Amino acid sequence: LLIVTGALVGSSGAILSYIMCRAMNRKFLAVIAGGFGTAGGTVAAADGEQGEVVAISAEETADLLKDASSVVIVPGYGMAVAQAQHAINDITKKLRDKGTQVRFAIHPVAGRMPGHMNVLLAEAKVPYDIVMEMDEVNDDFPQTDAVLVIGANDIVNPSSQTDPNSPIAGMPVLEVWKAKTVVVMKRSMATGYAGVQNPLFFNENSRMLFGDAKASVDAILGNV
Ligand code: TAP
Repeated sequence: LLIVTGALVGSSGAILSYIMCRAMNRKFLAVIAGGFGTAGGTVAAADGEQGEVVAISAEETADLLKDASSVVIVPGYGMAVAQAQHAINDITKKLRDKGTQVRFAIHPVAGRMPGHMNVLLAEAKVPYDIVMEMDEVNDDFPQTDAVLVIGANDIVNPSSQTDPNSPIAGMPVLEVWKAKTVVVMKRSMATGYAGVQNPLFFNENSRMLFGDAKASVDAILGNV
């Protein structure tokens, strides 16, 4: 029994690691041997070098969502930290009741373990049919009115496509910057897991909603 259990645990770990490495476009040994953003690659640029960041309030974000006819929500590690999944489900219900198309876009390595976001959204009872994998939704961003990024960073970083020296170069990402407006919820301008600055935050169509994700989502909920 021990040998069978051990073999099952070992092989599922190996399969999950393989899926994770493929999603990050990195070699297994490179993931085991070296930390992300700790050696080589581009050093995170200072904030001032990138351009201006435009902040937005929860009330303005609520207005943006009310005016949108299509919304994509991108959850990341910060949503898990803040435990904002239940409140975001309440916003989703309100918007869908008004006839807005709301979908969730899940990156294969969002959070810190495979399926992290799917588990949290299922726990919050978000309907399965509006939870999309990256490949299912990535082509739809140009037709999307508003994207709500909740505590995600590396998985929406355009430098993976534009900077060949970036530690995340070549990692497939959610192309949220192609949407009409992107609201990013996080507490500061700090980097994510990979330790690289994110040019998305400085785009003209990006707005930063600073604060703990749960507090921000609660504040939006009160206004949608
Ligand atoms: P990250 O790139 O780590 O970004 C998470 C962001 O959440 C941070 O920039 C942080 O910014 C924000 N945050 C943290 N706590 C918050 C809170 N309470 N409220 C609001 N925002 C908060 O996460 P991601 O975009 O999900 O990407 C995952 C990363 O983990 C990838 O680099 C991936 O390769 C790596 N990774 C994934 C896995 C798997 S299998 N999922 C395994 C190992 C590594 P502030 O500090 O400014 O708030």
